[in-house]
Amino acid sequence: MSTLALFGGKPEISVPFATYNRIGTTEREAVLETLESGILSGYVGAPGPGFNGGPKVQELEARWADTFHISHAVAVNSATSGLFAALGACGVGPGDEVIVPPYTMSATAVAPFVYGGVPVFVDIEPESFCLDVERVRDAITNRTKAIIAVNLFGHPARLAELRALADARGIYLVEDNSQAPLATENGVFTGTIGHIGVFSLNRHKHIQTGEGGICTTNDGDLALRLKLIRNHGENLIEHHNVPTAQDLIGFNYRLTELSAAVGLAQLERATEIVDEREALGHRLSAGVSGLPGLTPPQVRTGCRHTFYAWPLRYDADAVGVPRSVFLRAMAAEGVPLDGGYVAPLYRLPIFKARKSRHGPHECPVTERMHEHEEIGFGICAFELSETLIDQIATTFHKIYEHRIELAERYTRA
Ligand SMILES: Cc1ncc(COP(=O)(O)O)c(C=O)c1O
Repeated sequence: MSTLALFGGKPEISVPFATYNRIGTTEREAVLETLESGILSGYVGAPGPGFNGGPKVQELEARWADTFHISHAVAVNSATSGLFAALGACGVGPGDEVIVPPYTMSATAVAPFVYGGVPVFVDIEPESFCLDVERVRDAITNRTKAIIAVNLFGHPARLAELRALADARGIYLVEDNSQAPLATENGVFTGTIGHIGVFSLNRHKHIQTGEGGICTTNDGDLALRLKLIRNHGENLIEHHNVPTAQDLIGFNYRLTELSAAVGLAQLERATEIVDEREALGHRLSAGVSGLPGLTPPQVRTGCRHTFYAWPLRYDADAVGVPRSVFLRAMAAEGVPLDGGYVAPLYRLPIFKARKSRHGPHECPVTERMHEHEEIGFGICAFELSETLIDQIATTFHKIYEHRIELAERYTRA
């Protein structure tokens, strides 16, 4: 058996992982053409055609709506802006509660604060790392205005169930679909099952414009509110005659024409990019299956996982090695993994400084995933080939085969 790199052996992978570059000739040409047009933004924050932005933004929205089979797509300059706009469009106000998971990027859970709302943390289920529907049900009160479900790592939350629950209770379901473009639940695209979906186009995502985002909805009234919030809506409320939105504050969440041009080129390639990442994710799962204590990502029946990340569940008792030691051994072999994604968000100072709370239950699954079980690999972060994926899988096996030695040497150290 070869020596572990951690103990002086030759690393399994000796070349550092390169950053995944999805930008090519089409994007370059689209940007040049837009530059030459002289129109870098078409927005005007007043009644008139400029309210909806320039030609590239509008084309991106039309194509996005076509691709995702949705009535309205509203381009914004980040998913963070999109989440803020979504809660504003839902009418979240002071004291209104918004149910959020604690295992997500911070923007999901700070969004309610923008309107004086209260984030209410509800635990995730261990299989998908997404909201636990029964816990959500228990957490709804007469102050609940919305639920934000995150389709984490590229896998759908239990969206149809959450939408039915939201409709039954007269509240909104917002999907934070930043990590899951083209994922599906029962054949329906994520980002289109909630009342509003929010996509990210930041540089880490499957398709990107550097910074950017898209909100989606089938509701014309919500689409108008999203547009008013995106673009100085206070100047347009009278023009659009929205009596229920007199107090709406418009921001500047406008995407530039250059970014929209890149977005259009990327959207053309979205299927190809997502199919490839999905196949690499499944290949890694197959390569790592069958090792007791290592559970590759599970895909719920009827769902498509698009593998923004590849989240493994690690059982330290079954393997006999603490997660941190396993990760150290993998890193020494040249495989960059992360342990535990983000700390449960309620630990951040802002959630103590401002009003937030848990639902009726604590979040033990989130705590366990963060502290002990979850190991992530950034499928969308790196240039990857099937060969490299196979090498990563081989490395998992190598560390696994050395687990007794690893445990002994770790205990002695
Ligand atoms: C789940 C989730 N929500 C929101 C965001 C924020 O996206 P953006 O950087 O486009 O504002 C991200 C980005 O990392 C994310 O992963």
